[in-house]
Amino acid sequence: MKEKIIPEKLPEHVAIIMDGNGRWAKKRGALRIFGHNQGVTAVRECVEAATEIGIKYLTLYAFSTENWNRPKEEVDALMELLVKSINNETETLIKNNIRLLAIGDIESLHKKCYDELMNTINITAKNTRMNLILALSYSSRWEITQAVKKIAENVKNNIITTNEIDQKLISKSLTTKDIPDPSLLIRTSGEYRVSNFLLWQLAYTELYFTPVLWPDFRKNDFYSAIINYQKRERRFGMTSEQIQ
Ligand code: IPE
Ligand code: IPE
Ligand code: MG
Repeated sequence: MKEKIIPEKLPEHVAIIMDGNGRWAKKRGALRIFGHNQGVTAVRECVEAATEIGIKYLTLYAFSTENWNRPKEEVDALMELLVKSINNETETLIKNNIRLLAIGDIESLHKKCYDELMNTINITAKNTRMNLILALSYSSRWEITQAVKKIAENVKNNIITTNEIDQKLISKSLTTKDIPDPSLLIRTSGEYRVSNFLLWQLAYTELYFTPVLWPDFRKNDFYSAIINYQKRERRFGMTSEQIQ
């Protein structure tokens, strides 16, 4: 698989909606959290795969604003799993020169989770090989609402005029401010929706859906998505002739 990838045509930023942990567990007669635990292996595979081929930005949707509405036991277990995984993976991130970032309302995370996250973010801040971005307590409508509030405050306080509000300023007001828009979005588990993920940033993103459940996702699944992406023509509203 890997050999079929064209190095000159790599997506700069790949975003993934990691879905299907619960169904994966249910199929095995296990608790949902068993699926989440198994999902960590898929995260590791994916990060490795992306690093190996030279992806610059990899964003993983790990916990949405809406996921707070799940049963308390599941939310608690997910928070605990996050703490454990970040702790376990920090050394690997350092070794592989990967910088960890987070988007979302991260202050709303359980304290231990927030501390662990900030610690690894700080330790890896100078790493340059790849940016690994975790979307935690993230939803696009939350993010856009925050941005609107910030811009309105700045207008009210005469820091900017309404004329200065443009697409660039809006992009700069989002939690993804220094991150390029995703070139490719992957969603696993056969669901065809974006579930409140990066609505502004996905404007011209190529979408890729696979029936594979997240705990089963492996390097070759990641490479298949990249190969599929490389066969597409991104026209950005122009004609095919204009692109060539
Ligand atoms: C994705 O798997 C992980 C999170 C949303 C945290 P799910 O837990 O949504 O699994 P399904 O969709 O119920 O199978
Ligand atoms: C999206 O998955 C959120 C994450 C993967 C973190 P969900 O399982 O929460 O999405 P819906 O509710 O099925 O759309
Ligand atoms: Mg789901």
